[in-house]
Amino acid sequence: MLKNVSTGKTYRAIRHDITREKQRQNADEVHHPDEKISQIKNVLSEICGWGDLSILELFAGQGNLTKIYSEYGEVLANEYKKSIFEKLVENTKDLMLVKCNRVDSFIDFHKLISLKQKFDVIDLDPYGFPNRFFPDIFLLIDKGVLFVTMPKPYVNILNGITAAHLISYYGEQNPNEQTIIERIALWGLCHWRKVELIDSIDCKSVWRFAFAVESVKATDYTNVRNR
Ligand SMILES: C[S@@+](CC[C@H](N)C(=O)[O-])C[C@H]1O[C@@H](n2cnc3c(N)ncnc32)[C@H](O)[C@@H]1O
Repeated sequence: MLKNVSTGKTYRAIRHDITREKQRQNADEVHHPDEKISQIKNVLSEICGWGDLSILELFAGQGNLTKIYSEYGEVLANEYKKSIFEKLVENTKDLMLVKCNRVDSFIDFHKLISLKQKFDVIDLDPYGFPNRFFPDIFLLIDKGVLFVTMPKPYVNILNGITAAHLISYYGEQNPNEQTIIERIALWGLCHWRKVELIDSIDCKSVWRFAFAVESVKATDYTNVRNR
């Protein structure tokens, strides 16, 4: 394994540190806004070209995607980090359909579930793995689209914690794209949602998936009659 002589770090570890630093600086280079925006426009214009969508953005950052979503309907835009939240508020202040919320989305989405909220579009765009949202995120969507940013396990530095996390969610420490997509579709069925991949784009170290989600009747889906 190639190592830097002065730091003793591997090339991958150095690259990982650089990415983390760019994330800390909130650089667009690690957000891929252009690719995400073009996917959102393609998917939403095809699947649901309505102007009155209800949209939940769980990791809004400074609002790159929030501005686009506001063209499709009401947006609840969550951001936890104070300095970034302030920029989000500033960047969206003229958008009447945007409500910004400074919350920890990993916790707050449980509150939305208990309030029986429903959305047409949900966007999961964390820096790390979004796995902790599954399967219950599906309770927030009866029919619509779920966008998910998923880090590629094989380009991440697999320390023991990440490996244990991935094994607990996917049964293996290095799941490939197909395994992850199939597992997300299975998690949909935990809450009787039919989940189908409609688009996947490759953004260097992450995939960006778009899933069509639709609630189904257990009896119809399984062709079993309740007696
Ligand atoms: C990948 S960035 C989002 C980028 C944004 N969607 C865009 O395209 O410009 C992830 C964001 O989530 C925020 N964040 C991190 N942990 C959070 C949490 N627990 N709840 C809500 N936001 C969080 C970070 O501060 C960061 O701004």
